[in-house]
Amino acid sequence: MLKTHTCGALSLEHVGSTVTLAGWVNRRRDHGGLIFIDLRDRSGITQVTIDSDQTAAHEVAAQVRNEYVIQVVGKVAPRPEGLRNPNLSTGDIEVLAETVTILNTAKTPPFNIAGGADEVDEALRLKYRYLDIRRPRMTQNLVLRHQIVRFIREYFSARDFVEIETPILLKSTPEGARDFVVPSRLHPGEFYALPQSPQQLKQLLMVAGMERYFQIARCFRDEDLRADRQLEFTQLDLEMSFVDAADVRAVIEPLLVELSQVMLPHKRIQTLPFPVITYADAVEFYGIDRPDLRFGQRLFNVTELGAASEFGVFKSAATGGGAIKGVVFPGGNALSRREIDELTDFVKRYDARGLVWIGVAGEPDAAGHYPPESLRSQVTKFLTPAEIQTIVARSEARPGDLILMVADKLAVVNQALANLRLEIGRRAGLIDPNLLAYCWVIDFPLLEYNEDEKRWQAVHHPFTSARDEDWERLENDPGSVLAKAYDVVLNGWEIGGGSIRIHRSDLQDRLFACLGMTPAQTQAQFGHLLEAFQYGAPPHGGIALGIDRLVALFAEATSIRDVIAFPKTAAGTDLMLDSPCPVSDAQLAELSIAVRLAKK
Ligand code: AMO
Repeated sequence: MLKTHTCGALSLEHVGSTVTLAGWVNRRRDHGGLIFIDLRDRSGITQVTIDSDQTAAHEVAAQVRNEYVIQVVGKVAPRPEGLRNPNLSTGDIEVLAETVTILNTAKTPPFNIAGGADEVDEALRLKYRYLDIRRPRMTQNLVLRHQIVRFIREYFSARDFVEIETPILLKSTPEGARDFVVPSRLHPGEFYALPQSPQQLKQLLMVAGMERYFQIARCFRDEDLRADRQLEFTQLDLEMSFVDAADVRAVIEPLLVELSQVMLPHKRIQTLPFPVITYADAVEFYGIDRPDLRFGQRLFNVTELGAASEFGVFKSAATGGGAIKGVVFPGGNALSRREIDELTDFVKRYDARGLVWIGVAGEPDAAGHYPPESLRSQVTKFLTPAEIQTIVARSEARPGDLILMVADKLAVVNQALANLRLEIGRRAGLIDPNLLAYCWVIDFPLLEYNEDEKRWQAVHHPFTSARDEDWERLENDPGSVLAKAYDVVLNGWEIGGGSIRIHRSDLQDRLFACLGMTPAQTQAQFGHLLEAFQYGAPPHGGIALGIDRLVALFAEATSIRDVIAFPKTAAGTDLMLDSPCPVSDAQLAELSIAVRLAKK
């Protein structure tokens, strides 16, 4: 090795010993007689001091610039009192250099590596990702990712799971998102597809009798990107035979608990065991199927007031089949009109037409009723006293609070209020950053109606089983059928999802028929699975956790890009490699492919 110690290793116990360090120049300060170099490697930073008495070393040190790669031999010494740096693990010592060797020079980097990431344009960070990763924050994120994946591998290995690799060159099958396809040279005109997940293969491994499988699996989905979505991402994928939904949850929950306790000892899991919430309740009380349970502010529902109301906004929502729901901003009666207008603009981003608000300014009377003068609102004149009392009571608002309501189509109401609730959580400081609020969401609908295509489609994927008691309604009332599916949610992020699968080919046939697929279509797309099910498929189920999301939450990153070494931009490009890009005509010819670009 070109070094005896890493740059994060030295402390007072090394004083007096001669060490060799190697790394990058984080910063150099030239005080004439003394040159200070903060030498950085993956593990940390050590201050190297070069005295002009060490003529040769001093001459070299005078030439080095930021990000030069150097090697230093010197003696560890305590820093003088008053010059110690408690923010650095090596802050009590310095290395008095005897020799300094330049191992490589460096151009001036396009951004300051020693500075914070936030002030640098992300596009520049991605173009020079190898420099961005030199920043301690990114280095730590990647190390944390490694530790989490290692923990997961050990956890499942210790529980009799076998890690099995499944192919990346697969077959195109509809699984929700669009496939990435790969042309075959040996079979002109034919294509592989990259796996959206190893879903079918892991089910086939259950038919194969492997019983407990897991994989740290790369998945590919050609979908629109967001802060929590990439074109390629990593799942902890697992499948188990002879289990029901509770058994799968009973494997995953302790994993998440232990992982949290080991990786984030300063944080607290809010509720153990994890709360189990039905999909219907999640949407009713939080407006969304991935509730952030770190704070309350559950939504309330007064849709029943609408039909008889004189207030047009309420009446038209309720009679049009919509809903009237609301949420309380604690202490929000102190907000100015301008701040309330901001909240109105906020919900408009989610297609709501407006926000109805009632400030609870005063105290209730002895009977618990709020007299009109105790309420501040733009709508009290449209509502009867009885309606107002119902709203205030249902909302459970207290003096000083602000009641906020949206009346619209149900989906709009839920989406607007789910986001408004989070905004209230942020603005009112209700979110404890040290809380880990996990929950399970269960009883998802099996099918949803696709209005554009006028057909039913699977909410999760078409291999998910209905609840036993719901199969009989599959053909007559498909919308009412609930699935044996479950998601795991952390602080409002969906970090995983899975289900108990259909393992009988007759039931799988019925489901495909319900999705409007002809026997010929199912045979072409899923013949392998249907046939396998005829050779003794055991009851089975599983789940997949999104590793990128989990690591991002653990690292307190706002985007999964910050926990992926080489991510794509929101436009799906790789700025460092300049990909995607055209390929040569020779490559295309070999693949029997002609490119036909639509005119711009
Ligand atoms: P699902 O599609 O719900 O289930 O995916 C499981 C988890 O993977 C993560 N995830 C993503 N992360 C980053 N970028 C993406 N584009 C992305 N898409 C999904 C999420 C999600 O909860 N085969 C099933 C699992 C099963 O049924 O066992 C599946 O893939 O955290």
